[in-house]
Amino acid sequence: MSNENILEEKLRAIGMDPRMGVVGLQNLAPINYWDYTQVDTLLTLQKPRTEFEDEYIFIVYHQITELVFNLMLHELKQLTGYVELSAEKMTVKLKRLSNYTNMLQNSFDIMTRGMDYDQYNTFRHSLAPASGFQSAQYRMIELYCTSLKNLARNAPENATIVEQFQHIYWQHAGTDPRTGNKTLTLRQFEEKYLNSFIETAHLLKDNTLENKLQKIQESGNLTDELRNAAREFDQLYNVTWPLVHLQTARFYLNAKGENKAATGGSEWQKYLHPKYQRRIFFPSLWSDIELAHWGEE
Ligand code: HEM
Repeated sequence: MSNENILEEKLRAIGMDPRMGVVGLQNLAPINYWDYTQVDTLLTLQKPRTEFEDEYIFIVYHQITELVFNLMLHELKQLTGYVELSAEKMTVKLKRLSNYTNMLQNSFDIMTRGMDYDQYNTFRHSLAPASGFQSAQYRMIELYCTSLKNLARNAPENATIVEQFQHIYWQHAGTDPRTGNKTLTLRQFEEKYLNSFIETAHLLKDNTLENKLQKIQESGNLTDELRNAAREFDQLYNVTWPLVHLQTARFYLNAKGENKAATGGSEWQKYLHPKYQRRIFFPSLWSDIELAHWGEE
């Protein structure tokens, strides 16, 4: 079949008049790099709040991270959307998720060594009460990866999804330890995103990555390669990368033992440590000993 005929067939198959489609194609302007990547728009999205030049680095690196989170969600939406999911397919996707997490971990030096210490410690005061804690995509990744009960470990046995969110582990970082009240950082965050988190948790009930993995395990198809890929991702996302992030927080906020307040107001030294946080996506893949030593440095 000639190329023209293939095109006509394709247009007919999607219910389009082939003549209309061909004329449309003839009039298309040739694509260029800047229109395809929307780079000019992308570069209008950096809006520093202070005069310190290194704040630009802080904004751009957060944006890079959000784009990487978006790629991870792109994979996770596919993974949780498949009706039939083979061990091979899941292994490939989990390796991609680890690749992205490796990228985040390996590049975090841009924060630790790529900004002036004094500049950061000055401009950060202009950013409160904003905090990376308020990254919605970060929370969405958790919801796609694991059952809500793993994130809301202290919730009562029969708690509803809405109730579980009031026990989710990150509530701890948003509660003022002196008064027990929610901080402004948490209140703003919940006001903007809580409904979409609840909706997502409903959609993903019994269908998270953890559930998909369990189904493969129950059907006797859990290969060593898949098991290792899942464990690797769990370790990277929930221990290795958080430790790099914590070390950076220590560098800027506790270099001389000052324990400076973070912009989000959490008891960050404890809260950010994976040993205390114990966020684990696939608990059944770890032995009791491994779980007992989870997150240790
Ligand atoms: C100089 C660099 C950074 C420092 C000192 C820092 C510090 C902190 C601190 C102290 C917290 C605890 C919450 C609070 O009280 O504010 C936090 C949370 C968080 N930060 Fe950062 N951060 C830095 C860079 C980043 C970057 C580049 C990202 C990428 C998006 C990020 C993402 C997060 C996330 C997702 C949380 C919540 C973690 C959780 O709930 O487990 N941070 N950060």
